[in-house]
Amino acid sequence: MTALRRRIRALLVPVADEQGFVASAPVVPVRVIFRRFWPDARPYRKQIAIGMLFLILVPLIEAAEIWMFKLVVDEVLVPQELAPLLYIAIAYVGLTLLGGLINFGDDYLAAWIGERFLLNLRTRVFAHVQGLSLHALDRRRLGDLLSRLTSDVQAIEAFVLSGIGVALSALVRILIFGGMLFYLDWRLAAVSLIIAPLFYFAARYFSRLVKHAAREKRRRSGSLSAVAEESLANAALVQSLNRQDAEVARFRHQGERIVEAELASTRIKSLFAPLVDLIELLGALIVIALGTWALASGDLTLGGLLVFMGYLTQLYGPIRDLSSLSNTIFAAAAGAERIIELLQEQPTVVDRPNAAVLSDVRGRVELRDVRFRYPGAARDALAGVSLSIEPGETVAIVGPSGAGKSTLARLLLRFDDPVAGSVRLDGRDLRDVTLRSLREHVGLLAQETLLPDVSVREAIAYGRPGASDDEIEAAARAAGAHDFIRTMPDGYETPVGQRGRRLSGGQRQRISVARALLRATPVLVLDEPTTGLDSGAKAALIEPLSRLVGGRTTIVISHDPEVVAWADRVVGIEDGRIVGQRPADVTAVVPGAVTSAVVPA
Ligand SMILES: Nc1ncnc2c1ncn2[C@@H]1O[C@H](COP(=O)(O)OP(=O)(O)O)[C@@H](O)[C@H]1O
Ligand SMILES: [Mg+2]
Repeated sequence: MTALRRRIRALLVPVADEQGFVASAPVVPVRVIFRRFWPDARPYRKQIAIGMLFLILVPLIEAAEIWMFKLVVDEVLVPQELAPLLYIAIAYVGLTLLGGLINFGDDYLAAWIGERFLLNLRTRVFAHVQGLSLHALDRRRLGDLLSRLTSDVQAIEAFVLSGIGVALSALVRILIFGGMLFYLDWRLAAVSLIIAPLFYFAARYFSRLVKHAAREKRRRSGSLSAVAEESLANAALVQSLNRQDAEVARFRHQGERIVEAELASTRIKSLFAPLVDLIELLGALIVIALGTWALASGDLTLGGLLVFMGYLTQLYGPIRDLSSLSNTIFAAAAGAERIIELLQEQPTVVDRPNAAVLSDVRGRVELRDVRFRYPGAARDALAGVSLSIEPGETVAIVGPSGAGKSTLARLLLRFDDPVAGSVRLDGRDLRDVTLRSLREHVGLLAQETLLPDVSVREAIAYGRPGASDDEIEAAARAAGAHDFIRTMPDGYETPVGQRGRRLSGGQRQRISVARALLRATPVLVLDEPTTGLDSGAKAALIEPLSRLVGGRTTIVISHDPEVVAWADRVVGIEDGRIVGQRPADVTAVVPGAVTSAVVPA
């Protein structure tokens, strides 16, 4: 028996597939999912209560309409009398109108609540993702995140709201129609209900299979979005290396995996429907057989028997709904699990309770025996770094690639906390101040300039949304950006394009310099600001960059001798340790191993 069941199951569910990009989320019990997301629906308690009232009214009206049919048969057709038809007709039309109104209210209200619930939940999940630590976001596939934010969030609505709606309406219908059955003929009613357990067992078996298939579907659509996103984000790389066909094949491959899962889920669902039909037919046949007998013995009128069959059909509907509801719920649960997994990821860097708000920062930066290791990494990225920088001092950090320079920059902005030791600003441990106020005082200018797709003006003011036009223009002039901005089609209003692609690398970097000048933070970290630029772009950037240095504490990571020359002090880092430190002079820079990295041959 178990062997047979296993064979059937193997035929129905999708084959295991670990080639996907995205791992399955951990399984969460339905009860827990419900408890977790119910609070998002709570603000709409009042509307939900009204909706429930509608849910009760709809089947009541339907029951009354069916009863009208009994009146037609027993009062008009059988006695062949026309007089009562007028009243019956008026009542019938009235009921239908009322039913239509209530149906409208019911549908509209359900959509209203559902959409608002979805909006809030989606925003909450997005806000959560915004707060995650950078390295946690780096680990996740962007496309998969997008798929979670769109379709998986939707599944929760199906689960928490529509789910309750269907369940409640089915229960009310079962009560009303079942009640009518018993009222008409309790013996016949009792017989017609003996098939109910069959429904239950069939539903239970199938919903387990459905859940498995649904999980695969969700996970695989996450993989598909991930492939699409990565491929399109790297369009230049793909096209330059003639990889379009390979990318299309990769996309198709993930798509095929979705097809597989969809087909499996369809196999399960479409087997379930005829099985349910069969069970229903069984019930109806039993009722007809026994009904004939009740009719003959005069226990039931013809109208009564017809209406009985009518109510019975109406009763099987909700029983069927309830049993396939478990399928819907389990399918939706698969989406919810992926959201829960995301929500459970906690930011590693958060404000301490009572964290202080930084103000009047002088700019003394201090690292005390700082150790840091990326989660899951085999060795420390920083292995005990101590460094003290005076307010207004400019320190250049040099060292080979992978030495830990960017990691140090990340710690200064508190994208991560050190594993041991501390990073301090004006003597205060960064962990004791709010993230917000810290980043208001410590600026970062990275090698790969990041620009949101906004106008040039907004891109410059991105870090200081209230800046006036004059301030923005002054910053652009000082950054050597004003002239090229003026030649753009719409000047300061020209959009910079996705990730600033409409600008050249050097132009992007000058916009960043303008942004940094505008923010004027007392501490500024520059991470390889000139790396990757051609000599012309670099030459145009050097002077604006030099305006950033001075008057503030500046930590500049660079291999560019011209940039290093501005520094009051040069610190060499290798393998996460400080290997040399001396006041800089333009000719000789740092002794030993680092020299080659500083002055390329
Ligand atoms: N997000 C990350 N996850 C795991 N390891 C990382 C991550 N970023 C950097 N590393 C590792 O940490 C070390 C220091 O990297 P990084 O600070 O970027 O070096 P640098 O900027 O000096 O070239 C390297 O060994 C690198 O592989
Ligand atoms: Mg780096």
